[in-house]
Amino acid sequence: MKVLIVGGGGREHALAWKFAQSEKVTHILCIPGNAGTATMPKCQNLSFAVSDFEGIRRFALVQGVALTVIGPELPLAMGIVDYFHAANLPVFGPTQAAAQIESSKTWAKELMIRAGIPTATSATFTDPELAKAYVRSQSIPIVIKADGLASGKGVTVATSLEQALSAIDQMFTGQFGSAGEKVLIEEYLEGKEVSILAVTDGITIRPLIPAQDYKRLKEGNLGPNTGGMGAYAPSVLANPQLMAEIQSTILEPTIAALRDRGIDYCGCLYAGLMITPTGKPKVIEFNARFGDPETQVVLPLLNSPLEDLLLACVERRLGQILPISWKPGGSVCVVMASGGYPETPESGKLISGIKKAEENGAIVFHAGTKIKDKSLVSNGGRVLGVSAIGKDLKEAISIAYKAVSHISYDGATYRRDIGSLHI
Ligand code: AMP
Ligand code: GLY
Repeated sequence: MKVLIVGGGGREHALAWKFAQSEKVTHILCIPGNAGTATMPKCQNLSFAVSDFEGIRRFALVQGVALTVIGPELPLAMGIVDYFHAANLPVFGPTQAAAQIESSKTWAKELMIRAGIPTATSATFTDPELAKAYVRSQSIPIVIKADGLASGKGVTVATSLEQALSAIDQMFTGQFGSAGEKVLIEEYLEGKEVSILAVTDGITIRPLIPAQDYKRLKEGNLGPNTGGMGAYAPSVLANPQLMAEIQSTILEPTIAALRDRGIDYCGCLYAGLMITPTGKPKVIEFNARFGDPETQVVLPLLNSPLEDLLLACVERRLGQILPISWKPGGSVCVVMASGGYPETPESGKLISGIKKAEENGAIVFHAGTKIKDKSLVSNGGRVLGVSAIGKDLKEAISIAYKAVSHISYDGATYRRDIGSLHI
């Protein structure tokens, strides 16, 4: 069967890598893909613009693609899945209406409040002065969020009143374009974070193994927020009792609340959760897609064929398939970013050492890479995700970091504490 993957980051390389292991999958078509997917067996990159929905749909039809997976949030929010549905094409991903769960934080918040899903208390503003007055009446820290998509940069966890007020000013003065026309001000939640990637057909929802993402640029969880500097799985926080609570108080009520609104959610629902000091999980955010880099630690431990799982969602029979099967042990992914990331990432730096890194047992997922004049060069903020699995997390960490030590390019930036359970 032919599979089409839309997107070109580390998450999409990991999806392609997992599909490639199945004998049933004969062709993996990536739009646009990256240098990693360009050189993988069975895999081919295609140079459509991700926004060319009409072109991509026609291509999928002509090629007889049996399953399309949409990686990033932007095409989902712009309605690519609706295009595919209009042509009756099998696609894993939520419709534009369903993707609002990520593309509008206020929409998601309202859904959660109505359904009684545990989340931080909040208020929404379209007027900066009212927002500032509200902040002055609240305790600090406080969290200021742009309503719309802002590539992970639309959230400020303000630790002083001045910082909160300045974040409000920045959002309303158009730093995030229309994404900042509405601003959500949210209670600061203490605790530890866990990412739950759950697959759903709109009726049944099944979590994949829980992961932890390390969002800050610097070791010890310092520095600016990024798209994610690494991850590990399974998260030590998520014991069976907590997973059962997440299933019954968050995942199932969310799918039910969507259904009440006439939305059949097919795809990955990513719940970013805070496990508060009392042990209660609360939703920080929902995403309408697989996480990046969480996917790069979850898929290496997945035993079940990915296409079986995702097609069961597309064909609305997830409740009928066998439990998802996992390898034992631990998994880690160390993200190697460009110098200047996240503000002004450098590009075009010559990358070496990937082969050597892989010889030591690591899986090197490409993200911002491309081939230029027959050489591999960096091409974006997050360049590579160096993943490894081991009999336990410690072994996985040791394999991954040994691999990282073989890879070099000018300005390479990575955290040395990915997988640490103390931060
Ligand atoms: P988001 O883009 O909503 O995932 O937010 C980015 C990061 O900001 C999260 O991963 C958290 O670390 C932090 N954050 C967001 N909302 C809150 C909150 N209400 N309380 C504490 N931290 C938060
Ligand atoms: N790792 C965070 C995200 O995918 O949004």
